Amino acid sequence: MPRQRIVIHRARADQARAKPTDYSTIGFGRWFTDHFFATEFDRENGWHLTRIEPWRLLQIDAAAICLHYGQEVFEGLKAYRGKDGGIYLFRWRKNAARLRSSAKRLMMECVDEEFFGQAVKSLVLLERDWVPADPECSLYIRPTLIATDPFLGVRPGDEYAFYIIVGPVGAYYPEGFNPISIWVSDEDVRAVRGGLGEAKTAANYAHSLCAQQKARQLGYTQVLWLDAIEHRWVEEVGTMNIFFRLRDEVITPPLAGTILPGVTRDSVIAICKRWGLTVTERMISIDEVMETIASGEMQEVFGTGTAAVISPVGALSYKGEEVAIGGRRTGELGARLYGYIARLQRGEEPDELGWVERIDELDAEQVARGEE
Ligand code: COI
Repeated sequence: MPRQRIVIHRARADQARAKPTDYSTIGFGRWFTDHFFATEFDRENGWHLTRIEPWRLLQIDAAAICLHYGQEVFEGLKAYRGKDGGIYLFRWRKNAARLRSSAKRLMMECVDEEFFGQAVKSLVLLERDWVPADPECSLYIRPTLIATDPFLGVRPGDEYAFYIIVGPVGAYYPEGFNPISIWVSDEDVRAVRGGLGEAKTAANYAHSLCAQQKARQLGYTQVLWLDAIEHRWVEEVGTMNIFFRLRDEVITPPLAGTILPGVTRDSVIAICKRWGLTVTERMISIDEVMETIASGEMQEVFGTGTAAVISPVGALSYKGEEVAIGGRRTGELGARLYGYIARLQRGEEPDELGWVERIDELDAEQVARGEE
């Protein structure tokens, strides 16, 4: 499936949505732009009805499979505005590939990489005025794939909708780039080998809400999940992968089927290696984490994610005991990574790994016609 022809229906002036006036308070996931992208699949026509249209409520059958059996997968990526006014995308092919592997796990049809890129670019270009100039903000892109056939038997769908919504965002956590406190869940688990853990699907997030609420009630921002069998090995945080800087070694749990393969996780591993640091993907137990924090050998802990970027962890609570990390201050490596990645994503660092694509010189209509 090569590039498609995307029909653009532009919003009328009276359909324009309000834009934020103060970007310092926009938070995450509350603002959306004037248009969305959508395309539909059925066995007879393949992907068709491919268009960008003014924002509206989705029409979906009350019996649609996604609403009953959770056949849904999604992605999260961002468009960034550089100091030069340019609009940049970061490693979007990784998101396209992950959407495809999530879809495969849930037995769903999926758009291919080129079509994914064409859709993302044409929508971002049409909404170019919405990409914030504030360096703490970006335009969040949420590609979503759902099974839409009206059918209550349990089987994979034959009809799908793939749509993309975008909106300006600031920091994901209320703490911004300040250290967050995390509660370690020793009862609820996120995923088990052979399950859905590595797929980016709604079920994983729905399932996390219960432990997330327990964490909130105890005064913590997020949950750190342990493995489902021994309740011992660190896996990931609710919306992020996790990294430890221990005796000058950078450690992150391996991708063994239960952890989301984060794009920021992959980028941090590559960057740290380029900086000459020792990076090890290995299992790390919660006991080792708590002991080395207590002994002072753990230099810093941080999470990584598209929404969260790099998020320093200032404290961990496990079985009622709280330990502070690095004096609850942002660690040196986390700060360096945050600054470097933020500049790289905005075209302000040499793109030695070919991760960054400047798109503002393209025209939305031209990309929509497949003429990029
Ligand atoms: C992202 O980091 O883009 C995500 O999709 C996490 C989400 C739950 C906010």
